[in-house]
Parts: sequence; C-alpha cells; structure tokens
Amino acid sequence: MNILAPSILSIDFGHMERELLKVYNAGATTIHFDVMDGSFVPNLSFGIPVLRFVRKALPEAILDVHMMVVEPIHMLEAFVKAGADIITVHYEAVSDLKRYLDKIHSLGIKAGVAISPATQVSVLQDYIDDIDMILVMSVEPGFGGQEFHPETYDKLREAKVLAQKSGTHTDIEVDGGIDLNNLKDVLDAGGNVIVAGSKIFKNDSVANVKAFLEIME
Ligand code: DX5
Ligand code: ZN
Repeated sequence: MNILAPSILSIDFGHMERELLKVYNAGATTIHFDVMDGSFVPNLSFGIPVLRFVRKALPEAILDVHMMVVEPIHMLEAFVKAGADIITVHYEAVSDLKRYLDKIHSLGIKAGVAISPATQVSVLQDYIDDIDMILVMSVEPGFGGQEFHPETYDKLREAKVLAQKSGTHTDIEVDGGIDLNNLKDVLDAGGNVIVAGSKIFKNDSVANVKAFLEIME
C-alpha cells in the first residue's frame, strides 16, 4: 500500500492546526515529524510538546517520527507517550541498532531505520527481520527543500530486494526532494511511503495532497 506522509517541517506554524486538518482531510492520514538535534544534523527542529499538539489535533493520524538525533534511547518512551506510532532512528546515529529496535518494539510501536545518502542499504542486512520500515534518505538529512539525489533509485531497488527477504512486511519510505515529476519513478523503484514537505505545504496544501495521491493510487 502506498502512503503519503507530509513533513510538517515546512508547515505554516502560525496556522499549524488548520494546516494539519487540511492535509488530513484531503487524504494524507500519516504525518511525518522530523526531530533534529543540532548535532547529528546541523539544524534544530521540534520535539515532544509539538508532537503532543499534533496528536491532539489529529487523534486518528499515524504519526511517523524521524529521529535525526544522536543516541536518543532515553527519549523514546516520551515520544511514544506523546503520540508516536512509528519511530525511525538513523543507522549512523546509534551505536547498537538492535537495542533500539528492541526498545521501540517493547514500547508497542513500529520501528524504522533511516540511512543517509552515503550509507549502503546492505548495512541493514543483519537487522531486516526486526525492521518495520527502511527510510532511504534522498537528500542529506537536516533541511527541507533540497534536490532529490538520483542515486536513490538504485538504493530503493536494493531496499526492496532486502525487504522481500524479511519474514514480515517491511515498508520502504523515501524522504527528501520528492515532487510531482519524480514521484512515479520513486514508486516504480520500490518506495511506498512518500515523505514530502515543501511540495505539500507551499501554496494550496489540499490541492497538493490530491495531486500526489492521484499518482500514488
Ligand atoms: C529532511 C527531512 C525531510 C524534509 C523533506 O531532513 O527529513 O522530511 O522535511 O522536505 P522536502 O520534501 O522539502 O525535501
Ligand atoms: Zn524526514
């Protein structure tokens, strides 16, 4: 199943609740939530109180938390309590990936692993049975509005082969630089959870969600 996950990094924070409701009611029922620590990535974003607000605004949405944070083990529980349905940690930012996957699962939610552009898909081979979602970054993590890296297509094809080796269903999420021009190629290469920030929240968010979903259905 294909899923569209608008990234609220590009939302109009002055009208956050209104914008969340607009994209949700237009059919984007998963919300992508980018947490940045100023260390793993050279930028800061938002955290637990904002997630709690999103959960309150959209009680039924799937909240997809992308942790661009070095060793976030001590905050996982608080993110789950604030409303996270899936937490994705970066392969490059954690020292013991299995411990993170086990911890996230023990909190009763799904666990994802993100790989930055320079990281090969094969590093996830030994963990695949414990990964609910592979997040292939199609830009350097840290900022919205960047250009899609075309090398991502090969990585998506590889991720799909790896996902098929898993005993359970594994989603493949793609994040960064996705627009209406490259969306079909991203889907054809194997991505099924599509993150888009600037291309959703710029101008008419409802029309943007509908245009994305039309290609994804
Ligand atoms: C970047 C974030 C993305 C970002 C995508 O580090 O992980 O989720 O918001 O934004 P666009 O769609 O504008 O590239
Ligand atoms: Zn993200």
